[in-house]
Amino acid sequence: MTTQDAAARLFHDLTGHAPDGIWSAPGRVNLIGEHTDYNDGFVLPFAIPHRTCAAVGIRSDDRIRVASTFADAPVEVSLDELPSLFPTTAEAQPAVAEWAAYPLGVAWALQLAGATAHGVEHGAQHGVDIAIASDVPVGAGLSSSAAIEGATASALNELWTAGLDRTALAGIGRRAENEAVGAPTGIMDQMASMLGEADAALFLDCRSLEAQTVGLSMAEAGLAILVIDTRVSHAHSTGGYRERRASCELGARIMGVPALRDVSVDDLPRAQGLMDDVTFRRVRHIVTENQRVLDTVQTLRESGARAIGDLLVASHVSMRDDFEISVAELDTAVQAALDVGALGARMTGGGFGGAAIALVEQHAAPTVTDAVTAAFTASGFTAPHIFPVTPSAGAARDA
Ligand code: GLA
Repeated sequence: MTTQDAAARLFHDLTGHAPDGIWSAPGRVNLIGEHTDYNDGFVLPFAIPHRTCAAVGIRSDDRIRVASTFADAPVEVSLDELPSLFPTTAEAQPAVAEWAAYPLGVAWALQLAGATAHGVEHGAQHGVDIAIASDVPVGAGLSSSAAIEGATASALNELWTAGLDRTALAGIGRRAENEAVGAPTGIMDQMASMLGEADAALFLDCRSLEAQTVGLSMAEAGLAILVIDTRVSHAHSTGGYRERRASCELGARIMGVPALRDVSVDDLPRAQGLMDDVTFRRVRHIVTENQRVLDTVQTLRESGARAIGDLLVASHVSMRDDFEISVAELDTAVQAALDVGALGARMTGGGFGGAAIALVEQHAAPTVTDAVTAAFTASGFTAPHIFPVTPSAGAARDA
């Protein structure tokens, strides 16, 4: 059964009738530019074929009910209750199950935007039923959360006639994630999920939110990108992600700039003299990673995807040694892929688990898959889940 059919069926089971429509949004991988988004920097993600579908229908009352194929029971609240579900302090937990906080958080963030967006205030009087199905792997660093947010935001934007554009809807998803779920993430995942295009990456300036598509021409070049899901689960609402963010903010304060975006590679010697070693290495990762994104975009435009391998590897090394967000499984995946001829490889996403990507010759994909699997076996790790991804289109109405 397709994901779209699964959402439609769940909706019918829930309500006894057909939805008003089905909207979907994809997960993403990031080609390069990690942890740069919340530093006002540059990122280069693309949307993947795996999608989350939301079958949604307007109700005649003011209640909002969400169900998903990955949860036992639906969650139902009134629209008036939404603000009380999501505490505004970073440490407090939402009053609903985490999966439900994503779609309900999107509804809440759209309600808040309704103070200014024409139509929401009136439209938001209508409750909705939302049935969610997804084939985006969860906890793999492939932005299953941004996919839920993007599908829900696209649906409610239309059904509540909010009239927000894709960039604004990405902001709605991020607000849900930051304030309703409590994960202090940046804007990359939501932008990739909303604005992705087939066979292209999205070059995003996270300060201005200006987005350009950069063609990848993977098939013409005889290249493929493999995702290596290490099956080491990660969570960004706690721990390391938050700590890294705090180190970056400290580094920017010490350098006297609004964000690390404003520090250049030439400033690094001065930075080293001003801060402790750990903070300096965090800063060095962000500053060099921003430069690597710019270099990758230029290389793609001038020479094509075959030429970016070394930049991907340098990014991984910087995340492993300076930002310290890799884990043994990710390092093993990257090294094993490179050992058998991958052109480049790096962990992708927030780190502390999740997935790596490898840029490979199409014909070498089975060799790389076997080598990485064998390396995991030899190290006693859980078998990885390895699959190719093609850069794909962003959020859409499907039915
Ligand atoms: C997670 C976050 C993003 C970004 C990446 C790291 O995916 O959701 O905002 O910070 O980590 O690049």
